[in-house]
Amino acid sequence: MTAEDTVTPPTLFEPIEINGVRLRNRLILPPMCQYSCEARDGVPHGWQFQHLAARAAGGFGMVVAEATAVTPEGRISPWDTGLWNDEQAQAWAPICDEIAELGAVPAIQLGHAGAKASTVPMHPGVPAGQPILEGPDSWETLSPSGVPTNSMEIRTHAMQVDEIRETVQAFADAAERADRAGFGAVQLHAAHGYLIHQFLSPLTNTRTDEYGGDYEGRTRFLKEIVAAVREVWPADKILGIRISGSDWREDGWSIEETVRLAQELQGQVHWFDLSSAGIGDTYEGPKGPGYQVPLATAVKEGTEGIVVSAVGSLTGAQEVADVVTAGRADAVCVGRAALANPNWPTAAALELDVPEEQVPMARQYFRAKW
Ligand SMILES: Cc1cc2nc3c(=O)[nH]c(=O)nc-3n(C[C@H](O)[C@H](O)[C@H](O)COP(=O)(O)O)c2cc1C
Repeated sequence: MTAEDTVTPPTLFEPIEINGVRLRNRLILPPMCQYSCEARDGVPHGWQFQHLAARAAGGFGMVVAEATAVTPEGRISPWDTGLWNDEQAQAWAPICDEIAELGAVPAIQLGHAGAKASTVPMHPGVPAGQPILEGPDSWETLSPSGVPTNSMEIRTHAMQVDEIRETVQAFADAAERADRAGFGAVQLHAAHGYLIHQFLSPLTNTRTDEYGGDYEGRTRFLKEIVAAVREVWPADKILGIRISGSDWREDGWSIEETVRLAQELQGQVHWFDLSSAGIGDTYEGPKGPGYQVPLATAVKEGTEGIVVSAVGSLTGAQEVADVVTAGRADAVCVGRAALANPNWPTAAALELDVPEEQVPMARQYFRAKW
């Protein structure tokens, strides 16, 4: 028996350090668009404050704010949050303070929707992802090759190299504002068919210049963003990437390419969050509880020193805890189940009967323990 065999695996409610930043447990609230900027100005208000603060009070180790656009044309819908100006940065600041005050690390997902921008928000009764084709809320979107991500009619054009450079810079500028606002982690949105994913995937990137073609070309945009963000983002804060680990298509972006990318970014990026898909009309991948966990495990096993989180249809306390104790991922995101119950982590800790000091309950709520 080697020393390695005797190491006790961590448990879900044990703290974890990512680049020296301590999370009180391994539960992450994933980014979830709220489409709630009433004034269409990208400025977060009371809704975002209560949504994120409630889940920090509920016990998450890290709370990730929704996909936040780095430019106005990068918004999925006109009601998205943004970080392309200082007014937005100032409005995020009290939200960060509150999340931190409640014991969680405040994080934000920075994104650009590319060809999937200018769509109606995902609200009850509204067809998801429907492009807005006319009127003041409609704009021509940017994309690597003018190729749509699905069969819906859109207005998009292939980015010129100067537009690529401006967008890379916009990610860095937004990261700088995120730092000033008080976020402890930035997550780059390279998943779900949005702009960075559109560059990674051969399904949507048919460029013949240095930003397309082989693996090197298709990953160049993301690598340039990482390098630009690293210039401004403090070395002692967390830099992460949420990636679609697979397009689940023979001719698409693959888990092998994802693992290679994670290996190449080791040392620059501290955290990989493994989601999947987003390009195409239909979802072609596996389904069911924890369907994306194998993607996280592949990146965890293929890299060293990167914290890897799993996400997707993980809802039960024991099921989530098992992902960590089995070493399949270092942390787990719980999304929709935490929309239904903001106190999901606290409830799970009580259900799993973890040691008293690991129950992440807000002290004001201590009477809930019976
Ligand atoms: C309302 C809603 C909004 C979402 N918005 C985002 C987003 O802004 N960025 C993102 O990467 N994923 C987004 N997602 C995906 C979630 O982060 C998560 O990956 C997904 O819901 C699967 O996890 P779950 O089964 O625990 O909910 C969203 C999901 C929902 C339900």
